[in-house]
Amino acid sequence: MNAAGSAPAGDADAPERAYTDFTRALSYGEYLQLDALHAAHRPVTPAHDEHLFIAVHHVSEVWLNLIVQELRAAMTLLEAGVTDAPLKMLSRVVRAQEQMTNAWEVLKTMTPADYLQFRDAFGQASGFQSAQYRMMEFLLGNRSAVLLRPHEHRPDLHGPLLAALHAPSVYDLTLRLLAARGLPVPAEVLDRDLTVPHEAHPGVLAAWLAVYRDPERYWDVYELAEKLLDVEDNFRRWRFNHLTTVERTIGFKRGSGGTSGAGYLQRALGTVLFPELWEVRTHL
Ligand code: HEM
Repeated sequence: MNAAGSAPAGDADAPERAYTDFTRALSYGEYLQLDALHAAHRPVTPAHDEHLFIAVHHVSEVWLNLIVQELRAAMTLLEAGVTDAPLKMLSRVVRAQEQMTNAWEVLKTMTPADYLQFRDAFGQASGFQSAQYRMMEFLLGNRSAVLLRPHEHRPDLHGPLLAALHAPSVYDLTLRLLAARGLPVPAEVLDRDLTVPHEAHPGVLAAWLAVYRDPERYWDVYELAEKLLDVEDNFRRWRFNHLTTVERTIGFKRGSGGTSGAGYLQRALGTVLFPELWEVRTHL
């Protein structure tokens, strides 16, 4: 620094060298629409912890948005028979899931008393109505028409979810890929009713056994299977941490969305997205 407070002429690393005039150029805040982003962070009570509650939901929704984008892109490529780029996309999904799971650590600093200070303000609103979460589940294969109901008042959300309900999941596309590699995936599985979850099938298990017994020969689908297992593994962790956070915050009260609460979430822990990928290990 010189006496006038500005950087010496030769100091290329000084902050004074940074751009400062944004009357014409696009600034950081404008590019990222930070005014709109922060405007959405609007607690409706003076309760200190409502900020935290909103922030954790917001960041989770941002990660869900990325996860849905990555899954969709991966699925488009898988449908075209491409496996290398989807592996990278699924790796990103796995990392984003880790961020979502870590967010519980921040939220757990909120006690039941803190929560009760603003609980009444959001009425029947619940993550159960998260359209992005439902989309993620539908893409991964956990789907049911009943789950569309909270979105009937929003055709813009309902339409894409309905389309996803009738379209193959990432696992359906993977099984089609196995069939394209010459593995004997049963026709009844390939032509199944897509609006319900895939159920474990001995024929699919046999196809995966062939892959897992000869990974070199089927390397890309083998890697894809392990990546899908990572996704399900992380999804389970998120669900489990959600359940524990719910139990320590509201105990066994009904959920704001109208389900039994912890009981409903406990049952969801039993969901298995890719059953044969877990089962195959037993037979190796
Ligand atoms: C203390 C904080 C939280 C509590 C007490 C809580 C409570 C609940 C309860 C009781 C349910 C069951 C549905 C119902 O409302 O009846 C639920 C569902 C859900 N919550 Fe939370 N939650 C919390 C935080 C979060 C956060 C931060 C997210 C992040 C997005 C989230 C996402 C979801 C989702 C996606 C569901 C639907 C799960 C499914 O249908 O399998 N929750 N929550």
